[in-house]
Amino acid sequence: MPFCAAEPGFEERQHHLLGEHDADHAASQREHIGVVVLDTLMGGVGVVGDRGADPPDLVGGDGGAGPRPAHDDPPLHPSGEHGLGDGGGVVGVVDGLGGVGAQVGDGVAGVRHEPRQVLLHLVPGVVAGDGDAHGGRVVARAVPLPGASSPSLRTIAAVDRLVVTGGARLRGEVAVLGAKNAVLKHLVATLLAPGSHQIENVPGILDVRLMCDVIGHIGASCRFDGSAVEVEVPDDLLPEAPIDLVRRMRASIIVLGALLARTGEARVALPGGDDFGSRPIDMHLDGLEAMGARFELVHGVLHASAPNGLEGADVYLEFPSVGATENLLLAGVLARGTTTIGNAAREPEIQDLAEFLSAMGARIRGAGTSTIEIDGVPSLTPARHRAVPDRLEAGTYLVGAAITGGEVTVRDCVPEHLRMELRKLGDAGCEYETGKDFVTLRGPDRPQPVDFATLPYPGFHTDMHPQMVALLSLADGTSVITENIYSARFRYVGELNRLGADVQLEGQHVIIRGVPTLSGCPVDACDIRAGAALVLAGLRSDGYTTVTDAQHIDRGYADFEGKLVSLGAEIVRETD
Ligand code: EPU
Repeated sequence: MPFCAAEPGFEERQHHLLGEHDADHAASQREHIGVVVLDTLMGGVGVVGDRGADPPDLVGGDGGAGPRPAHDDPPLHPSGEHGLGDGGGVVGVVDGLGGVGAQVGDGVAGVRHEPRQVLLHLVPGVVAGDGDAHGGRVVARAVPLPGASSPSLRTIAAVDRLVVTGGARLRGEVAVLGAKNAVLKHLVATLLAPGSHQIENVPGILDVRLMCDVIGHIGASCRFDGSAVEVEVPDDLLPEAPIDLVRRMRASIIVLGALLARTGEARVALPGGDDFGSRPIDMHLDGLEAMGARFELVHGVLHASAPNGLEGADVYLEFPSVGATENLLLAGVLARGTTTIGNAAREPEIQDLAEFLSAMGARIRGAGTSTIEIDGVPSLTPARHRAVPDRLEAGTYLVGAAITGGEVTVRDCVPEHLRMELRKLGDAGCEYETGKDFVTLRGPDRPQPVDFATLPYPGFHTDMHPQMVALLSLADGTSVITENIYSARFRYVGELNRLGADVQLEGQHVIIRGVPTLSGCPVDACDIRAGAALVLAGLRSDGYTTVTDAQHIDRGYADFEGKLVSLGAEIVRETD
């Protein structure tokens, strides 16, 4: 779609402002304005400030007839440190779900509407500025930056797309790094002990940067050196995670237990729903309440306190929630007395978190089983830890071998952590062998149908479900998959069907009638695993498959297309 207006040369000076927010989620956040800028390190969105105001004059109309903002607002960004410039002007309204609107005006040379975002091309001297929710819409505007001059314009990964040419069989070796879902919790665990921590085997993914922003707001600082990160934690912490951070990093809720344990208080914005459904945190709160915490919801922010400190308690979870188990573990290590978590999640990432905490001096028994016992200690000390390998990254490349009928060895992984996924890949006709830290898998010419249900570990992982559906869409027969962890993880189904798959949704079940071939077309990566699954499907599709919104993939996979290309795939990243 052409830009609706442009001044000469604006394409060289373009900024892209991400606006993809769930409207329900957004509606709960009206009273808060966060400042977003383009993150030069990761190509994502970073938070640099907080206005705490709700200027009504920022909302433009759909299609661009709305009012202009005032231009005498104070600067929101202290300097041009992100390579952005000065100036100011309207950038309009971005609506995450329905219609989108933005207007050409002061500072905006061109506007392009995409299905889930508006791309704004700014004139020189304008920084792509605020973004926040207003009644289900996301308001964005240019922000004046005094003192900065020529903007160094770059493209945000939010509008990246991966163009996959189908046909290659993946062959070769690929190594995986540490697990995203372990490292995110390690970063939070550092808050429990002032001093300098080292975490190794850290993947260079967007979510890790976002969690560094979260703990950075609290007072910690992260320094990256290759795949290691040093986290410096001060004595005094600011015990809060505001909405603009929580919105970008739902896992931020995990700071609750650590902050309560360390400071006796926490203010954490409620994460709301997301692409997988409502995702409540009742089990987190019930468990912490049993340990003496008190909660009050104030304007969408959970105010937690434990004025007398946390006390060990017997907590039995209704469901083995990963996040609730981790929050209670983080709270229990500094609580008085013994905490027992019954029906605890048994994920390897939880065991890994317990190992890190133990290295810090915590006393934990039973992590990795369904009963975890924690004897609280008065204080912890900084530690060094190497994160457990990412079983989901490993599993995704194995499905890549399976779907292309190729042969791939995934190194630096723990095959035991993929036991159920490997069993189902075997049932689908793959041959594999495992060693201490590798899996080699050969895919069949055409997979056999397989049925399975996602379950907490050691069951089949929900985060491998979309990739497996992509594989089974090409099976010689009909498969049925039941999703038991999330109520709404099916947005990718429509995208897969655009490629020619025959996948039908029946409540929590997916009925997959295998087809012999898929046919490439543009599809949207609606979340991390859906995006990965669509890229894998593209490898086995005729022609070109363009996966838009590739930033979702970047949240969980470091150099996803680079690793696939090293295995023989043809994938090119395109950026507007
Ligand atoms: N749930 C509740 N109440 C609670 C907690 C959870 O109803 O208090 C429900 C959730 O709504 C969900 C289910 O229980 O339907 C499972 O939630 P869980 O707490 O186990 O998951 P999580 O901690 O929110 C982590 C991973 C997810 C992964 C799940 C399940 C992180 C940062 N996220 O989420 O990873 O799918 O466990 O294994 O660790 C991903 O990496 O792509 C991803 C989504």
